[in-house]
Amino acid sequence: MANPATWRSTEAPIEFIDLGAQRRRLGRRIDDALLRVVEHGRFIMGPEVGALEKELADFCGAKHVLGCANGTDALGLALMAKELKAGQAVLVPSFTFAATAEVVAWFGAIPVFVDVHEDTFNMDPASLEAGISTAERLGFEPVGIIPVDLFGLPAAYDEILAIAAAHGQWVICDAAQSFGARYSGRRLGTFGLATATSFFPAKPLGCYGDGGAIFTADDELERKLRSIRVHGQGSDKYDNVRIGLTARLDTIQAAILIEKLKIFDDEIAARNEVAERYSRGLGNVVTVPRLASGCTSVWAQYTIRLPKGVDRDGFAAALKAKGVPTAIYYPKSMHQQTAYMDFPVAEGGLPCSERLSADVISLPMHAYLDEPAQERVIAAVRGAV
Ligand SMILES: Cc1ncc(COP(=O)(O)O)c(C=O)c1O
Repeated sequence: MANPATWRSTEAPIEFIDLGAQRRRLGRRIDDALLRVVEHGRFIMGPEVGALEKELADFCGAKHVLGCANGTDALGLALMAKELKAGQAVLVPSFTFAATAEVVAWFGAIPVFVDVHEDTFNMDPASLEAGISTAERLGFEPVGIIPVDLFGLPAAYDEILAIAAAHGQWVICDAAQSFGARYSGRRLGTFGLATATSFFPAKPLGCYGDGGAIFTADDELERKLRSIRVHGQGSDKYDNVRIGLTARLDTIQAAILIEKLKIFDDEIAARNEVAERYSRGLGNVVTVPRLASGCTSVWAQYTIRLPKGVDRDGFAAALKAKGVPTAIYYPKSMHQQTAYMDFPVAEGGLPCSERLSADVISLPMHAYLDEPAQERVIAAVRGAV
């Protein structure tokens, strides 16, 4: 029989993401906000949706914000508004969550996979250039780029926006994991043509179900997005001027997000303290994440890379035995996924994405991880490497 220590934790488990602690901190505020919605009964596009949109705009400096049903729809709405067509190509990083590429395939368009930087896990501008050439060589028309701010860290926007401008392409930023982070002092939500984010419960700013938002400074795009969000409505909801979706943010989720946004900056600061302590404690035994210069992160994940020769499954089991949960984002890059492996990859291949998929592992990360818990995580990692 296996040694129980290998499958049963000997210490109280640490939460990977502790939504309970956040709920205790917020106390009655969420309950009261929910009750207000139940009382006024405007569950669809109630007053809280507009109020949240305004507060999100103030928070990040965006001109327009639209709440929507989830982060995937936020990307899809933007692509619909840009009238993405079959046979057109969109450049996406391969080391990301499926939604980034999935929305491109919805339209019969071609996601062209681009490699990422080994140190930031984000889109590599050199591979982006190679991907644009690949798309052209294969006879597809490259029309846009979807950079991802993976694990909470902004992508290399100066370089990516310059490449997009040189090729006449739009940039729609996938900030599903990174709302609240800054690039060159500016919050995400203000880069590219539009930015999509997710309020999935585990995201740094999460609601109590599915939710998302789109940010843009483009007045024409905003008008179209508002129409597409409600079945392509024109002057009223029974006037349909284009093909649309039903992709609204629920009033109840908006009410919850209004309360959570009030403590979000404080939570971002707490996440940064955890990340700094982890990096101090672990920097000499594993590869710790590095902030790109001029960037802040909201640490959706704190993801380390294991040294060569360390067995990742064994490492995870050793941490689990100490009550320290881990997760692997992402065990396969998109171009290695069954549904996506026939789509093109940038010339030169995607060696960094493949290496990362083989050696990354994420540690517990949330704003309520106290110092003793952080020290336990550090000790468990050091003991297991
Ligand atoms: C990078 C990325 N893009 C898009 C999404 C989609 O967001 P949602 O789950 O709200 O649809 C996610 C969610 O995990 C994500 O991580």
